Amino acid sequence: MILTKLALHNFGIYGGKHEIDLTVQKDKPIILVGALNGSGKTTLLESIQFALFGKNAKFIPKTKTAYLDFLKDSINRKNLDTSASVAVTFETKKGSRISSYEVVRTWSLNSKKIQLDTVQVFKDGELDEELSDRWPELSENFFPSQLSDLFFFDGERIETLAQQDRCSELIRTGLNSLLGLDLVSDLSRTLVTLERKIKLDNSGRNEKEIYDQLKKKSDELQIKRQELSKEIEESYSERELLQANLEVANDSLIREGGDLFKNRDDLKAKQDFLNREISRIRNELVDLASTVLPLTLLEENIKTIEELSLSSLSSTQREAVSDAIYNFSLCVLKEVKQREFTDVQIKVLQNIHSSYLEISKNESKNPEIHCSRESLYKYRTAINSLQSSGMTSLVELTNIKNQLELIEKQISAIPAEGKVANFIEQVSTFESKLNQLNIRIEALALNSNNIDKEIAANELKIEETINAISSSNAEELLFKNMKEQLSRGKQTLATFEEKIRNKHVSNLEKVIKECFDSLLRKKGFLQSISISKRDYQMTINIVGGETVPSSKLSAGERQLLAVAVLWALAKLSGRQLPTVIDTPLGRLDSKHRKFFVENYFPQAGHQVILLSTDEEIVGNYYKSLKNSVSKEYIVEYNEDEQSSFVSSGYFN
Ligand SMILES: Nc1ncnc2c1ncn2[C@@H]1O[C@H](COP(=O)(O)OP(=O)(O)OP(=O)(O)O)[C@@H](O)[C@H]1O
Ligand SMILES: [Mg+2]
Repeated sequence: MILTKLALHNFGIYGGKHEIDLTVQKDKPIILVGALNGSGKTTLLESIQFALFGKNAKFIPKTKTAYLDFLKDSINRKNLDTSASVAVTFETKKGSRISSYEVVRTWSLNSKKIQLDTVQVFKDGELDEELSDRWPELSENFFPSQLSDLFFFDGERIETLAQQDRCSELIRTGLNSLLGLDLVSDLSRTLVTLERKIKLDNSGRNEKEIYDQLKKKSDELQIKRQELSKEIEESYSERELLQANLEVANDSLIREGGDLFKNRDDLKAKQDFLNREISRIRNELVDLASTVLPLTLLEENIKTIEELSLSSLSSTQREAVSDAIYNFSLCVLKEVKQREFTDVQIKVLQNIHSSYLEISKNESKNPEIHCSRESLYKYRTAINSLQSSGMTSLVELTNIKNQLELIEKQISAIPAEGKVANFIEQVSTFESKLNQLNIRIEALALNSNNIDKEIAANELKIEETINAISSSNAEELLFKNMKEQLSRGKQTLATFEEKIRNKHVSNLEKVIKECFDSLLRKKGFLQSISISKRDYQMTINIVGGETVPSSKLSAGERQLLAVAVLWALAKLSGRQLPTVIDTPLGRLDSKHRKFFVENYFPQAGHQVILLSTDEEIVGNYYKSLKNSVSKEYIVEYNEDEQSSFVSSGYFN
């Protein structure tokens, strides 16, 4: 399917009649529409969705009055008394046969009330009654409404899809529509409605009244539930925005030294503590110095003394030994002289005597040690242990001094209160708003849970009321048969479902990875993506074996992942449908914008309509996209006419 024309008449900011040719050439799938803020980009996106899906368009809330409100609000304010219309023309190709369809929706406001809107469908220029009457149902053959989120989206809303729960929900619905599972549940819902209708047509007044009351309650509860869902959705978006603002405020605060300012009391307390530690260790060192520790300086000398004390005799011992030997030697000489020894022999003995004297004289040069070996040994070991505790204290002292230096640097960088007060206030305002919002979200979730329970209880009562109504045997039999068939069908489907689902999940994992790879700046970062078959949560397997949940990616990376999921589901749907992206580059940084422009847009589909501001697809991005662009439009607001106009061209 390819869109060929969009015609607007008094729709939103587009007063009067406007036509846009949307045909694209082969290999040039892009139509580039430039418009400043508030000029009518989102209006264009919504007009296409509205033309195709009417009240089922995803952007129209499902509350009671939302559709009528939308019709009222979207008639151009300057032309409230005339009718409004949107018409979209598209072509389909079956074999070599190309057919053209035009869907025209018209409505008007009559004395502040909406005149019923009409839808007319023309096939190859001729009004087709059947298509017109059954368009809500037959449109599904051209563009399944389930898939509209995959092909029509707002770049800024991608942020919401980037939240883990939303992303899982997108995968779940995407997979269901790929599997066609929703058709089966739709079928069983239709059967229940049909059964109720036939039974009620034949029931008494009392039963009808009870049923009507219960049905009324059920409708009210559904509306409440939808309103709550909308509120929850809005709160999520608000939370995203608050978180982003908080991040910005925190960054500015840190840049201005605000984190130091916030921690100033802690820093000062730490400084005092470290100073106290330093004096404690210094005192310990002084105490150590008053023991034998200073002898460490004489360690070598003590060792020598100890060795000496081990190797030599004390001087008194030496004197006694020397005297004894001397006397003995004199006696020997005296004795020798009285005997008949030769002169040579006597000379030898005298020489021995005098060399002894020589030795004894040398030995007396050694110092005398007045200390026992035991006490010397004791000193030496005491010194060793004192030395090691002294070393520990010194290391500790150096560490603490380093810490103190760092803290003192931080203290000197603490900014004056006036400089950061503004940022601190901003941060605390965002924090408290965020807290309040979280509490509100919790309360809303609880509320919605309670409504779900009420809905279930009410449904049960409806079921009981209907069951109590007796109907003809033939009808009973018919419903019994239909239910049996349906439940058999469901069972058969359930048998295959798991296998098909697993196959789709693993295909999806592969395709999401390919898409994510081509959008991501950090090449070679991703090994694979896993999707849990239980809750569809995604896990990123990083090169090197680490596994992270998608919530651990940066906010920008999560957005890319959400786009990769949309892109992958659109690819796997196997449908050739037009893709319309509003504000396509949203909040992406320059690097990722480049990947979007180069790798995503030209391949996002066979027809890609980009609705860009002058801050997005311009400059180099525009140049690199140019070869894939078939048509360029610029939407400009005209103050005099109070309307926007579409003309050929783009931002200069
Ligand atoms: N019924 C109406 N008649 C006239 N103007 C309308 C009507 N409804 C909405 N508008 C105006 O249309 C503008 C909104 O257009 P739209 O949201 O399409 O702009 P946009 O280009 O998407 O802006 P942004 O870039 O900020 O998203 C607003 O200025 C709004 O006041
Ligand atoms: Mg917009």
